[in-house]
Amino acid sequence: MCAKILDGRKISKEIRNDIIEQVQHLKDRYEVAPGLAVVIVGDDDASHVYVSMKEKACQKVGFHSEVYKLPKETTQEELLKLIDELNASKKIHGILVQLPLPKGIDENLINSHILPTKDVDGFHAINTGKLLLGEESFIPCTPKGILELIKRTGENLTGKHAVVIGRSNIVGKPAGVLLLKENTTVTICHSKTENLEKHVQMADIVVAAVGIPELIKGNMIKEGAIVIDAGTRKVNGKLVGDVAYEEASKKASWITPVPGGVGPMTITMLLENTLKAAKAQCE
Ligand code: GUN
Repeated sequence: MCAKILDGRKISKEIRNDIIEQVQHLKDRYEVAPGLAVVIVGDDDASHVYVSMKEKACQKVGFHSEVYKLPKETTQEELLKLIDELNASKKIHGILVQLPLPKGIDENLINSHILPTKDVDGFHAINTGKLLLGEESFIPCTPKGILELIKRTGENLTGKHAVVIGRSNIVGKPAGVLLLKENTTVTICHSKTENLEKHVQMADIVVAAVGIPELIKGNMIKEGAIVIDAGTRKVNGKLVGDVAYEEASKKASWITPVPGGVGPMTITMLLENTLKAAKAQCE
């Protein structure tokens, strides 16, 4: 089998064109542009690249965008104070604090200090709980993008076996919950899982979100599986995913490339969540 490519760039473009139209409606009706504040603490190069991509994406769809670049010495109290100000800002409908944060800052405390109505990352304890309960909430951007890609295959997901590799709060855990909601049977594997290949071999849907370059080999992939790769690591200057792409694409029915698969979808879902927050705050 030769896999069809799930083109995250193309799908993102379609969704972003729709967002541009909706932003225009919001501007015409309420004279409001959706506003996103992105906060980054410290000087991690990769995080700065992600933040500038988010800023550019906001500008391209007509959002109001504010970026706060804080030094690595920033204290938790200073960060909480900035979030208080952004919570109160009329121009800001969504707040994102780029992770990871420097040691000494409690990420959960910070995320849950953002107003749940402005929590476009979906990391607030209330939104996390609502997701688990199946209630309306902000869904974390990467798993939301992963589900959108899987749905675009047009395959019936009910009863399928989904294997998620990775148990982070940002991707693995919420991806598992979302896939369960789609009536798949979910296995979540992680760094301590024994016989990883045995689990992956049973998967109709593979979601790799573990951050280990090319951990998932072609011989682990079941013939016809849908393979979603959320990994991005730089190896010798080249972006590499968690899946050995060439090998896996000979077995899979659908596969996401790295780059150009999950990455653009994450940013697009952030735009969707920010638009949703702005609409809710206007009405
Ligand atoms: N770091 C890696 N992915 C994410 C994300 O989706 N949101 C935030 N805030 N930080 C991240």
